[in-house]
Amino acid sequence: MKRRPARLFLPGPTEVHPEILTAQADRLIGHRGPEISELLASVQPRLQSVFQTKNNVYISTSSATGLFEAAARSSIDQRSLCCVNGAFSARWAEVVEANGKSLDVLEVEWGEPITPDRVADALGRGDYDAVTIVHNETSTGVTSPVGEIVQAVREQAPKALVLVDTVSSMGGIDVPVDRWGLDVCLTGGQKCLALPPGLSFVAVSERAHARAATIPGRGWYFDWLVFQRYLEKWQTPTTPAITLLYALDRQLDRILDEGLTARFDRHAAMADHVREWSLERFDILAPEPYRSDTVTAVVNTRSVDVDAMNRYLAEHVDMIISNGYAKLRDRTFRIGHMGDHTVPEIETLTAAIDGFLEN
Ligand SMILES: Cc1ncc(COP(=O)(O)O)c(C=O)c1O
Repeated sequence: MKRRPARLFLPGPTEVHPEILTAQADRLIGHRGPEISELLASVQPRLQSVFQTKNNVYISTSSATGLFEAAARSSIDQRSLCCVNGAFSARWAEVVEANGKSLDVLEVEWGEPITPDRVADALGRGDYDAVTIVHNETSTGVTSPVGEIVQAVREQAPKALVLVDTVSSMGGIDVPVDRWGLDVCLTGGQKCLALPPGLSFVAVSERAHARAATIPGRGWYFDWLVFQRYLEKWQTPTTPAITLLYALDRQLDRILDEGLTARFDRHAAMADHVREWSLERFDILAPEPYRSDTVTAVVNTRSVDVDAMNRYLAEHVDMIISNGYAKLRDRTFRIGHMGDHTVPEIETLTAAIDGFLEN
């Protein structure tokens, strides 16, 4: 018989609570009937609470990369500055280019943060109408100070829209969308929100809607204005992943019942434990104070065989972690401490890794 998969301590997709898995098994409803409108109207204010925003939060039946494409088409007119400090920010730049938009890349070494002074400096060298930034680079475990970066953008290039990927931070690290003034803030379900993969979410500011209206060739599937038109009727433009919406409905309650502050504190406590553990045995790729509260990229200073370690972890504690990503594949391994995981679970995980290291 096929073995049941081990619990995921990856930096996404992460483990999904049984109650949320079960929620997907309900009978389907039509996507143009009153039930779906009731459901979408009821999830919207809760999504806005999680995003800490009054902006519309659109639900896309796509993975988060779809929203990279959306942001490129709906929010970049002439030229964008793409900040790159890891694999996902590099992908976003690639998506911008693939959509025929002009861009310059502000590249810093993988493992380093994007900082306000670097952004201000780069903005001074060109004329940009948008800036793309990944808040939490999942490939390196680096969190960049987006709130301060937005201030730098406002001073240096007031017309530039700030487009932010919070794929591996929303719901795990404090991202006050309105207080920071993010024009576009996108995330995926399968990370800190601990949903099954397949839905992504984006908060779009009034400024970004106004800009979209002036940009030709936005396409249709990912156009902010199409999303808006349908949200006004409490619908989605196309048939949504209805069963994932059931999961979202339940999980938003679980998240808000826990409370955002408690959720961020739990992520910080898990990260503290992993950091302390890692520094005693290995090293951490990210420098202080930019170490992520949701994923740690541990520098594999002992050349541990990560596949063998995962086999051991699966067998002994029913858990697995992740390899390094892309060019960091062999140099690092990554522990995802995101979603609904708890400190005791993370302690069990690191104790089991110790067991493997001793063997
Ligand atoms: C920071 C970040 N951005 C974007 C993505 C792409 O998300 P998806 O695989 O949902 O398209 C990921 C996936 O791991 C990510 O970690």
